[in-house]
Amino acid sequence: MKFSTSDSSLVLAAPLLLAALVSCTVISGAGTATGTTSGDATTGTGAGGGAGAGGGAPTGATGKDVFLALQADILGECGACHKLGGVADAPFLALPDVYSSIAAWPGIITLTPTSSILLTHPGLSSHGAGMAPDMSKPLRAKVLAWLQKEATEIPKPTESTKPYITPFKPLLGAFNTVYLDPLGKTLESSSISFNAVELGSPPSMLLLTHIEVHPVADTTIHLVHPIFSVYPDGGGEEPDPIDSFSSVDHAFDLNGDGTLGTGTVILTNWQKGGRIGLAFEAAEVSGLGTPLDGCKSDATKAQFTKDVIPELQYCAATCHSGMMDKPTAAMNLSQLMMMPVDAACAQVRARIHPGDPATSDILIVTDPSKQVAHGYKFAGNKSKYSAFKAAVSPWINAEK
Ligand code: HEC
Repeated sequence: MKFSTSDSSLVLAAPLLLAALVSCTVISGAGTATGTTSGDATTGTGAGGGAGAGGGAPTGATGKDVFLALQADILGECGACHKLGGVADAPFLALPDVYSSIAAWPGIITLTPTSSILLTHPGLSSHGAGMAPDMSKPLRAKVLAWLQKEATEIPKPTESTKPYITPFKPLLGAFNTVYLDPLGKTLESSSISFNAVELGSPPSMLLLTHIEVHPVADTTIHLVHPIFSVYPDGGGEEPDPIDSFSSVDHAFDLNGDGTLGTGTVILTNWQKGGRIGLAFEAAEVSGLGTPLDGCKSDATKAQFTKDVIPELQYCAATCHSGMMDKPTAAMNLSQLMMMPVDAACAQVRARIHPGDPATSDILIVTDPSKQVAHGYKFAGNKSKYSAFKAAVSPWINAEK
């Protein structure tokens, strides 16, 4: 069965169907214009040559100009499900600034345009559990030309001998996850998350808060001197003028506090439409993690078992228990049904802020009203999300 976006009754029925059938979505990194220190930028740049020709864009047109010319088409074909709160749970076409939404969505603008999820995903038989359409041929050609243009605009850090994450556009006013895969095989699926908010009008600063390191289980990550840089829209590279994390030399594991430095950076050199990059003096796996702590106490363990485990069944059954590498590395629920529940409790505990449900990852990423990249947001169903929030919040508070 296919449903068309013009048939509103089917679209309304979709959340139910999709909640049952939704497939895992792997989010491969904020911006996923993730590079390697050896730099695979050449693939992207080379392919970008045909951009002008393919898109029919005037000379001097930027990636944004090329996108704006196809925006109405993509909204028409994909917008119904991919808006904020849409059934897709992937609001990369969130209004009002659609370009900012799509350019910041993980995996869309890539160094190698043909590997963009925007081109590869809609054609999958699993797209929307088999019920969502593929992209039309004419739109596909326009989108490819746009992505080729964008690939030529991805900046490369000048000090590229240091381990770095290729500059990306942060999701603004939202929770971002940057995977550390480009830093080396051993760091695969470990990540750094943060909230990004622009300050000033027009925006002149970027405030990053709750900057946290998420190593995978049984791994200690050693990070030295991380530095964020701003890459303005018009070109250039401007490292954090305050060099906020110059004294960071720290080992992180799943058990400990993941806060990177003070957990906060204000990039006073931010410019609207810019990218941020992240480089390190050193980033490596330095050992095994310490054995995981479970819940805080027997009382919170009982509460976790009674209130939280039932809520997480769906997460475990779909993506978070070995079915998919990244979701499982981020929060491994494969031991959810095993007693004692300490392993599951430790995994979930690493994704909350005890005592503070509002800033806890498990509640932020699943919120259908937030433009955060996460494969599941209750298929846009706000009341289901509220019920989940009500069920897990008392445990989050009790863990403090
Ligand atoms: C009828 C609803 C519907 C329409 C229309 C639709 N999609 Fe989707 N799309 C989904 C659902 C549901 C998912 C999540 C499940 C999955 O992974 O396929 C999804 C997932 C995606 C993803 C993966 C997002 C991520 O972060 O991993 C991409 C990319 C995508 N769609 C692109 C498109 C494009 C491009 C179009 C227009 C040609 C489109 N979709 C039209 C329902 C839809």
